[in-house]
Amino acid sequence: MSPTPKEHRTDMSGTAAAPWWRSAVIYQVYIRSFADGNGDGVGDIAGIRSRLPYLKSLGVDAIWINPWYKSPMADHGYDVADYREIDPLFGTVADAEQLIAEAHEHGIRVIPDIVPNHTSDQHVWFRAALAAGSGSPERERYVFRPGRGPDGAQPPNNWVSRFGGPAWTRLPDGDWYLHLFAPEQPDLNWQHPDVHAEFESVLRFWFSRGVDGFRIDVAHGLVKHPELPDLAPLRDPAVEQPREHVDHPHWDRDEVHDIFRAWRKVADEFEGDRCFVAEAWADTPERLAAYVREDALHTAFNFDFLMATWDAEDLRSVIDTSLATLAPVGAPATWVLSNHDVVRHPTRYGRKSPTRRWVANESYRPEGPLDLTLGTRRARAAALLMLALPGGAYVYQGEELGLPEVEDLPESVLQDPIRERSGHTERGRDGCRVPIPWSGRSAPYGFSPDDATAPPWLPQPPHWAEHTAERQTGDDTSMLELYRTALLLRREHPALGDSPLTWLDTPAGVLTFHRAPGFVCVVNLSTAPHPLPDHLAVLLSSGPIKDDLLAPDQAAWLAV
Ligand code: GLC
Repeated sequence: MSPTPKEHRTDMSGTAAAPWWRSAVIYQVYIRSFADGNGDGVGDIAGIRSRLPYLKSLGVDAIWINPWYKSPMADHGYDVADYREIDPLFGTVADAEQLIAEAHEHGIRVIPDIVPNHTSDQHVWFRAALAAGSGSPERERYVFRPGRGPDGAQPPNNWVSRFGGPAWTRLPDGDWYLHLFAPEQPDLNWQHPDVHAEFESVLRFWFSRGVDGFRIDVAHGLVKHPELPDLAPLRDPAVEQPREHVDHPHWDRDEVHDIFRAWRKVADEFEGDRCFVAEAWADTPERLAAYVREDALHTAFNFDFLMATWDAEDLRSVIDTSLATLAPVGAPATWVLSNHDVVRHPTRYGRKSPTRRWVANESYRPEGPLDLTLGTRRARAAALLMLALPGGAYVYQGEELGLPEVEDLPESVLQDPIRERSGHTERGRDGCRVPIPWSGRSAPYGFSPDDATAPPWLPQPPHWAEHTAERQTGDDTSMLELYRTALLLRREHPALGDSPLTWLDTPAGVLTFHRAPGFVCVVNLSTAPHPLPDHLAVLLSSGPIKDDLLAPDQAAWLAV
């Protein structure tokens, strides 16, 4: 194979024909857990800067960085106190500017997270709202209401927090305020013009500092029904529901698109291809496609792929539906297997396939014993599947090291607000957020410098030693080298990126598709070995191939 590098992947000016984000591989940096530059046990911007050569050699096109803004950290940065400041835990605005410049020198774009659904309760607006009192204009920027019942002691409606418990908290002065997440995350009122103006100004603040786009947190939650009606009674979770859009008082309301059309105009004011990716949960693929219409956002996470079980039929149906619903609006698909909110996929795939889909890790109920060897084999195959699909892909930090979920963190170290809010019925999301092992044989595995003053903010398990980047580098059988090779091939092979896919006939349990020119991806999800189709060469496989047979839970990329 003599690959021709694709211009749009290396050109940082954004002037090439296809915008970079249509086929980018974006690496998610969960900043607290990526690399600790100053030795306080928490990842930071200095740490990210020091690992840019690693990211470059991994071959990613961009990084998405979880919130780095000034925050009391009630939800690890998703409670923002000042959108124009970096939290001192992570660095300064000058550090962020330096990171952006250095990343660009490495050919890597930078996409911070923006959190528009709620602020921190320490944000200057919320403090002003508390100080100004009931009925004040300051309270109109949030969702304050009197309670129900004779003395207003009942919440204004029956909405529930995503983290558990009621979505309302009462103040000593009697008013209630809405928080779809933790009480430290009061929801903004997107019917207020100040809120629109402020966020457009924040976008410009960071765009003019060189960021290449934003990941939009809870994009589907911004607009609430003006009358805040009660939620309809929950449908029985045990009964399989049809996939249909249900009018909801605070999720995925049509009016939300007006906000994003305005944001698109802001992005278009800036040079180069800036892009948005929406974290939007919609009832149907059609509803999700509405976020990425031509005049709206550029891309949205495709959580259906992440939620699919390790099952050929399920995956194929998700792939087909995603591509078919995005085609009419002209948006590229995105593919994602893991992120900071869900159980890492080697662990998910290492259990008997759940019979139903699951949503975030609140609804992940481990079923049966864990077979991590199996889960890892599947994760390797899933990586080759994901990276061969048309569109963009997301890699969650540590996924390229084959990290499993840490399921046995001691109760005493758990920090996710979900744990407290659920009355300890949920463990929360800490198990996928354990600091990354870079090198060495013992904690902190290069996550923090040798002279660190504090241990990593979550303890790293002893088996992290097997997963360090150092140990895997140069080992052709490692997850890291699989990702590196796949990303290199993806970058260079003319068939990969943003172009159509054609399914080839294969027996049940096997997925085979062709991408022109001359590329075939085969994934064996059945329990029997599967003969490879005719090919010129095996470009890459997720495990050793003997006698042209693809073992169960293996994938291969073929030149045809
Ligand atoms: C999103 C984030 C999650 C956060 C929540 C509230 O779902 O991915 O981590 O807790 O929003 O901002």
